[in-house]
Order: sequence, then C-alpha cells, then structure tokens
Amino acid sequence: MTRRVGVVGTGMLGLAVALRLVERGFEVTAYNRTMSKAAPVEAAGGRVADTPAEAAAYSDVVVTVVRDAEAVRAVSFGQGGILSGCGGKTVVADMSTIAPSDSVSIYRRFAEERIPWLDTPVMGGPDAAAEGRLVVMVGGDKEAYQSVEDMYAALSEKRYYLGEAGTAHSIKLCMNLQIAMLAVSISEGVCLAQGLGVSPETFLNVLNSTYFGTGMSRKKAYRMIQEKYPATFTLDNLAKDLDTIHEAALDAGLNLEAATGVLDMYKKARKLGLGGLDYTGILEYVQKQARGG
Ligand SMILES: NC(=O)c1ccc[n+]([C@@H]2O[C@H](COP(=O)([O-])OP(=O)(O)OC[C@H]3O[C@@H](n4cnc5c(N)ncnc54)[C@H](OP(=O)(O)O)[C@@H]3O)[C@@H](O)[C@H]2O)c1
Repeated sequence: MTRRVGVVGTGMLGLAVALRLVERGFEVTAYNRTMSKAAPVEAAGGRVADTPAEAAAYSDVVVTVVRDAEAVRAVSFGQGGILSGCGGKTVVADMSTIAPSDSVSIYRRFAEERIPWLDTPVMGGPDAAAEGRLVVMVGGDKEAYQSVEDMYAALSEKRYYLGEAGTAHSIKLCMNLQIAMLAVSISEGVCLAQGLGVSPETFLNVLNSTYFGTGMSRKKAYRMIQEKYPATFTLDNLAKDLDTIHEAALDAGLNLEAATGVLDMYKKARKLGLGGLDYTGILEYVQKQARGG
C-alpha cells in the first residue's frame, strides 16, 4: 500500500491533487517553486518541503505536476531535484502535459539510476481531482504502476494502462486537441448565434438535446455566454499544449491543418492578454476577430 506521496508543483491541478490525497489519508509532502502556494497543503495536515529532493526523500511515490517538460526536468534533475532525493524503492510519476518524446527521454534518464518513472497525464481539472473523478492514462513500467495504483485510485474514476513510456502522453495530446477545438467550435457557434440575433442559450439548449452535446457544452459553455471565465485550466497552458501537439505532429511527419489553425488562434489570444483566463476565454478572441479584429 502506498502511504507517503510527494507532490511537486502545487499550481491549480497539483494543489487539488495534494489536498485530495491528504483528505484520503495519505502522508503528503508538497513542494512548489513559489513556496507560498504549497501552504494550503500544510494547513490541511500535510507537510511542505524546501526542495523536490526533500519531497522525494519522504515519499514512496513522488508526482510532478508542473507546467511543461522544461519544468519537469528542472524539478527532477536540477539542484535539489527529485533524483537526488530518491531512495531504492521510490517511484516517480509525471502528471504534467508534455511531449511523448520528452517523456521517453526523462524516463531513460531515471532508468539510468534504476528509478521507475511513469507518465501519468490526466483528463479533468482541479474539481475532478478534488472529487476523485480524474481519468488517468499511464505509460511506463507496469509493475511500478501497479505498486502505486491505490494512490491513483484515490484520485480517479478511470485508469488506463497504455504501455511503454510516452504512450500515455501521446493519448493526452490527442485529448487536448479535442479540448482546444471544442472550445473554438462552441465559441464560433455562440458568436454566430449572437450575430444572427438568436439566443446563444437557446443554441446551447438545442445542441445539448442532441448527439452533439458534450460535457463542455453542458457545463462551461453556459458560463462562457455570461462572459465568465474563472480559470481551472488556463488559456496559456492550453496554448502551450497546442505548441506541443504541433511539434509532435511535425515530428511524426503529419500536417494537421485544423490543429495548426487553432494553435494560431490561441497564440493570438495569448498576445491579446487573455492567457490568464480559463481556456474557454477563447470566446473573447473569437468575438473580437468576428467583428473585424
Ligand atoms: N488545470 C488543469 O485542468 C489540468 C488538467 C490536466 C493537465 N494539466 C497539466 O498539469 C500541469 C499543471 O497545470 P496547472 O493547471 O496546475 O498549471 P498552473 O496552475 O499554471 O501551475 C504550474 C505549476 O508549474 C510550476 N512551474 C512552472 N515552471 C516551473 C519551473 N521551471 N520549475 C519548477 N516549477 C515550475 C509552477 O510553479 P510556480 O507556482 O512557482 O510558478 C506551478 O506549480 C500542466 O502541464 C497542465 O497542462 C492541467
């Protein structure tokens, strides 16, 4: 049974993960580069570490939940990094969204030290983590995963072991492409409804009574039409993921036209200062462009 968990990165998702694990009785040691953001974990009954190495030293499994591959490498291999704190049986897992190629190279670097490293990206944000409703995709050593599956069970409704290192991040990129496109699709539908002088709420109600309704159109879309975009997953981070998707597609010799176009939209939205909004704030960009920029 996994008892001691390190959580490195207590941003929006990492904090919710750490607090859920404390609530479920795990001994959680959290680290965050900006230390104040880890304080709620201590307040809830966990511990705060001064370095990722310290979080690893206290843990059976240490999970990184940071922005990108560069950040995963910094907290893993930098000074005071996870690698220097791992004991003989520590499992390291990453929940950030990064490229499969980065996943494989980080896996290999840990493997040189005989430390199992898993890619465990998730679907669902902070609310899903808080309620144990995440969907977890897993790549890497199966036995290492099975040794910590009870920890993932506390966070998730569904878990998919997918195979070797990098496979989980490959599926995750396909998933985030859906998120980005769905948000644009709903935004343009709302914008068209407004332009044609019909109620965007009626558009959503009709959409949601059909086969084409989605979780996004049933939930976040109603906040979008009220121009409310409280961030649970920022537009900035989704633009980062679209960059990763674009590069992964190019590496695979693929030209994904719509993905390239959508990436361009999110990049422009970020330039307009919308990066701190929830990703559904892409509606603001769509509306601005639709009216001539
Ligand atoms: N939010 C979601 O719904 C969601 C869902 C699935 C996957 N994800 C993925 O999970 C990861 C975290 O997302 P989030 O929403 O929690 O993002 P966030 O709120 O922006 O948090 C980013 C975290 O990364 C840390 N960080 C960034 N650069 C770093 C570096 N160079 N060294 C060390 N730490 C660094 C930040 O530390 P500071 O506080 O010091 O800046 C912070 O803890 C991302 O890869 C995201 O794509 C998010």
